[in-house]
Amino acid sequence: MLVQSAVTTGKLRATLEPEAADVFMIAVPTPFTDGFKPDVSYIEAAVKKIAPVLVKGNLLILESTSPVGTTEKISQWVSEIRPDLSFPHQSGEQADIQIAHCPERVLPGYVIQELVSNDRVIGGLTPYCAEQAKLLYQLFVKAECIIIDARTAEMAKLTENSFRDVNIAFANELSIICDKLNINVWELIKLANRHPRVNILKPGPGVGGALYCSCPLVYS
Ligand SMILES: NC(=O)c1ccc[n+]([C@@H]2O[C@H](COP(=O)([O-])OP(=O)(O)OC[C@H]3O[C@@H](n4cnc5c(N)ncnc54)[C@H](O)[C@@H]3O)[C@@H](O)[C@H]2O)c1
Repeated sequence: MLVQSAVTTGKLRATLEPEAADVFMIAVPTPFTDGFKPDVSYIEAAVKKIAPVLVKGNLLILESTSPVGTTEKISQWVSEIRPDLSFPHQSGEQADIQIAHCPERVLPGYVIQELVSNDRVIGGLTPYCAEQAKLLYQLFVKAECIIIDARTAEMAKLTENSFRDVNIAFANELSIICDKLNINVWELIKLANRHPRVNILKPGPGVGGALYCSCPLVYS
């Protein structure tokens, strides 16, 4: 209903080709390749489509879960296509285009609620990039928008995913062990969680979806 009303009131429009805009947000898939390496080719493809329509003053935001160094790579990729503009990796605070990474944290099923209520980590290639991105997020985020450098923001998201991954795996390992020992895992977890500093998750089918991309790789 929300999408329908945004479309009928002219606030949301979809196009297959990028058009001139003040801000570009990239939220494309970042899956693993067969060799468990993060595949950033979707980001590169999106960036290369956006590059021709960029004008001085634009803000480019990466929201995809990405290996450390991807936001810097974006700056390099666009600069190769648009030598007429300056970018943060070359010109720092004086760049024509600002680039930032603001990793997405929403839980599917609660996307609208969490878009507004979740704290956001905003990593700029320069402090000015981060400040510009913060101004945008503050339009709809009611929680804190925390400014940091892009590499730390990339690593923060990978850390969050890895933390969840390890905890989900722990609950599932317990389930397998309990099965072998003929112990009720649900009862066991309830008992263990009575400890004031223990909070074990419920066992389930395992890690999937957006959480699956949690490999903290760095470009060499
Ligand atoms: N879904 C979540 O709740 C969630 C939460 C946190 C982080 N993330 C991260 O966000 C990123 C996107 O995840 P998602 O779940 O939205 O993926 P998705 O597959 O649902 O959506 C990605 C969209 O990108 C489009 N796309 C792919 N290549 C494109 C290109 N070159 N140009 C334009 N569009 C292109 C696809 O058509 C698709 O509609 C991933 O890095 C994921 O890890 C997602």
